[in-house]
Amino acid sequence: MIKLGVLISGTGSNLIAIQEAIERGELDASIELVISSRPNAKGLTRAHEHGLKTMALSKELYDLGAQAADEIIASQMMEAGVDFIVMAGYMRKVTQPILQGFPNRVINIHPALLPSFQGAHAIEEAWLKGVKVAGVSIHFANEVYDQGPIIAQRAFDVPEGVTLEELESLIHEVEHKLYPEVLQKLAEDRVRIMPDNTVRILD
Ligand code: GRF
Repeated sequence: MIKLGVLISGTGSNLIAIQEAIERGELDASIELVISSRPNAKGLTRAHEHGLKTMALSKELYDLGAQAADEIIASQMMEAGVDFIVMAGYMRKVTQPILQGFPNRVINIHPALLPSFQGAHAIEEAWLKGVKVAGVSIHFANEVYDQGPIIAQRAFDVPEGVTLEELESLIHEVEHKLYPEVLQKLAEDRVRIMPDNTVRILD
C-alpha cells in the first residue's frame, strides 16, 4: 500500500480516476493530500466529494517564485506521510524542494507519446499535425520538463477525421486507465530506474 499526494490545477479527472480505482480495490494506495495550484480548480470540488483532504495555493504565493510554493508543497506532503507525488494536470513545473524531498518519487502524466509534443499544448499540436497514432506517457519528473525517465506509454490509432475534442476525450480515456495501472506497479514495487535512466518494470 502506497500513500499518494496529488498535485492538480484543473478539472482533476485523472485524480478522480485514481481515487475510483482505489475505491474499486484495483489500486493498493491511498490519497493523503491533494494540492491545487489554483484555488478555483474544479478538481478541488471533486476531491471534496470523495472525502479527500485538500489544500490550495494562491497565485500570490507562486508570484514569489516556484521555490516558495514548492517548499510548502514538499513540507505538506512530507507531513502527510506521502510516498509518491502524483502530478495530475498540474500546470506548474516542480523544482528542487519537491524533487529533492521526493527523489525519483514524483510522477507525471503527459497527453502525448514523449518525446514528441512536449509542453502544455500537446494534444492540440498533435491534432494540428494530423498524427495517425496518438497516446499517453507516464514518467518520472526531473529538472527537465517532460523529459524524465518514461515509465509507461499507451498508443492508439487516431480515427480518420477526428475533431480536437474527440481526440482529447480519447486521450483522457487512455489516461484514466493507464495512470492507476502504473501506480499499482509502483505499489507492487516493480518499477526500477536503471543506471542509463530508462525504466524497467519487473515481472
Ligand atoms: C491531462 O490531459 C494530463 O495529461 C495533462 O493535463 C490534463 C489534466 O486533466 N497533464 P485532468 O485535470 O486530470 O482532468
